[in-house]
Amino acid sequence: MRFSLNVDHIATLRNTRGEDQPDPVTAALIAEEAGVDGIVVHLREDRRHITERDVRLLRELVKTKLDLEMAATEEIIKIACDVGPELSTLVPEKRQELTTEGGLNVIDNISLIKDTIKELHDSDIEVSLFIEPEINQIDAAAEINSDFIEIHTGVFANAVSEEEQFDELERIRTAVKHAKKLGMGVNAGHGLDYQNIKIFREVPDIDEVSIGHAIIARAVVVGIKEAVQEMMRLIRN
Ligand code: PXP
Repeated sequence: MRFSLNVDHIATLRNTRGEDQPDPVTAALIAEEAGVDGIVVHLREDRRHITERDVRLLRELVKTKLDLEMAATEEIIKIACDVGPELSTLVPEKRQELTTEGGLNVIDNISLIKDTIKELHDSDIEVSLFIEPEINQIDAAAEINSDFIEIHTGVFANAVSEEEQFDELERIRTAVKHAKKLGMGVNAGHGLDYQNIKIFREVPDIDEVSIGHAIIARAVVVGIKEAVQEMMRLIRN
């Protein structure tokens, strides 16, 4: 199972000061050196974290794979076609949400999503649709030529009992099998962390997981000691 790192939250921290640190592009390059298989960023309509500058620089510098998460809007599709990530993951986007809250409704938006896939394919960009592990959504994704689906793992990650977690994992297993039978690649993400990944990794045939918040949160904490010691050396020398 491959693993891509989402660096949106580095940009969130940067933007709180309106300055240029920490830089999600620098973080992405260090993550590549550390061995990740890809970098994920979500260019939102409101640019609350990742900016166009980030996406364009990442396109120049990322050597593994760039996955641009995006809503199917005219402005963002144009940027995607111009920048040329290896993969565009289409997600639903609401201005008020703290993070992506659930999968796309492919069935209800089929002609918009179909046209968007065609436009991205014409620019040699593969497409993934972020959806719930539901058979009818997977069928719709295959019908309109999606290369991948990304299964929303938020319900699994937020399960409050072992039983609920087990049931959702079963739903995910069935969904993965179905998508594979239809010839699509299968990614997964949202809310995966250092605990639940131990169970999630047992799901067969997932091509890639996309993880952001848990890793950036951990990086801040495990990096404190080194950052403090570095400053102490500067102050005391
Ligand atoms: N996949 C998609 C489509 C997402 O929107 C997000 C959140 O930005 C993730 C994966 C990663 O989720 P998390 O930050 O909870 O690991």
